[in-house]
Amino acid sequence: MSKTLSTKELAKKIINDEQTLILDVRNTDEFDDWKIEGGNVEVINEPYFNLLDSVDPVSGKLQKDQEVIVVCAKGGSSEMIADMLEEDGFTDVYNLEGGMKAWSEHLEPVKIGDLSDGGSIYQFIRLGKGCLSYFIESNGEAAVVDANRMTDVYEKFAEEKGVQIKYAIDTHLHADHISGGRELAERTGGVYYLPEKDAAEVTFEYAALQEGSDIHVGNTSINVQPLYSPGHTLGSTSLIVDNQYLLTGDILFVKSIGRPDLAGKAEDWVGDLRDTLYSRYKELSDDLIVLPAHYSFAEELGKGGSVSARLGDLYQRNAGLKVEDENEFRKMVTENLPPQPNAYEDIRKTNMGKITPETEEQKEMEIGPNRCAVEG
Ligand SMILES: [Fe+2]
Repeated sequence: MSKTLSTKELAKKIINDEQTLILDVRNTDEFDDWKIEGGNVEVINEPYFNLLDSVDPVSGKLQKDQEVIVVCAKGGSSEMIADMLEEDGFTDVYNLEGGMKAWSEHLEPVKIGDLSDGGSIYQFIRLGKGCLSYFIESNGEAAVVDANRMTDVYEKFAEEKGVQIKYAIDTHLHADHISGGRELAERTGGVYYLPEKDAAEVTFEYAALQEGSDIHVGNTSINVQPLYSPGHTLGSTSLIVDNQYLLTGDILFVKSIGRPDLAGKAEDWVGDLRDTLYSRYKELSDDLIVLPAHYSFAEELGKGGSVSARLGDLYQRNAGLKVEDENEFRKMVTENLPPQPNAYEDIRKTNMGKITPETEEQKEMEIGPNRCAVEG
């Protein structure tokens, strides 16, 4: 019997930049669409039906004493292949428990820093999907920004820290993942904030996230200052936390910029996006630490696994911020759009409260990468 590896253990390996060898036995089209990534991760794809008779197609590519983690969609066929590898003489084989489905759901918290009046800010990295959410806590209170559907993770974290979640804030109406914001607020008795301009079709009660009206977390007043920053969606709003951190939602990433077309509005919103990135953000302090809602490339994972960068540095090195000519910018944005995320229309409807799919269906809808950035 082969050993099992939990998604938590795999996340730790990737975040610690350990050498990780993965044998992904899903079909090649599924593999090409979406796979496990990380700075020191090597992935080999060999569909399991090629391995049913014998593991020969892969055993030549691997060393028998090498650590191999076998992965499939749900953890069933990978277990079988892992056992076969062991029988073939491999000594360090693991089966990823729950497969890509479980991997898609794993959230790994990483501390970003301390806040000036006490408290701290954490980034929750969803390595399987590239989603980033934030937990801001101060003096017994907490706010969660861009929460994922797995609300129990944030609740447990709050319990461990002994803080009460008072606010769940979405920077925009998400199209790539199902928001946990509303549910989290309901479960904790907190307030759910969403930008009004993204909420035109929303069917439930929410508080409007408005520029200029600060949200205070904790008695020591950690200001969460909303900053209207359209371009990805019409209502996209960034947050400045404690005058130190700029939570950019899907407007600005470490290596790229947000895509403006998720509601088919690329042409309309590209001007807004330009304005936000080249005027509004430029007026802010260069020393703000940018904390985006997504990452797309393994190399964006920095020290300790976190994804962040100084705003001033991004103006030097992020290609999406260095296009002087407006027409060229428009061309770059509209001509480099990646495919829409899988099931994005149903995800938007779910986030608007128009449909309420069963949990299993929600999991299926979210399978795949986020595709929120313009492809460079
Ligand atoms: Fe988004």
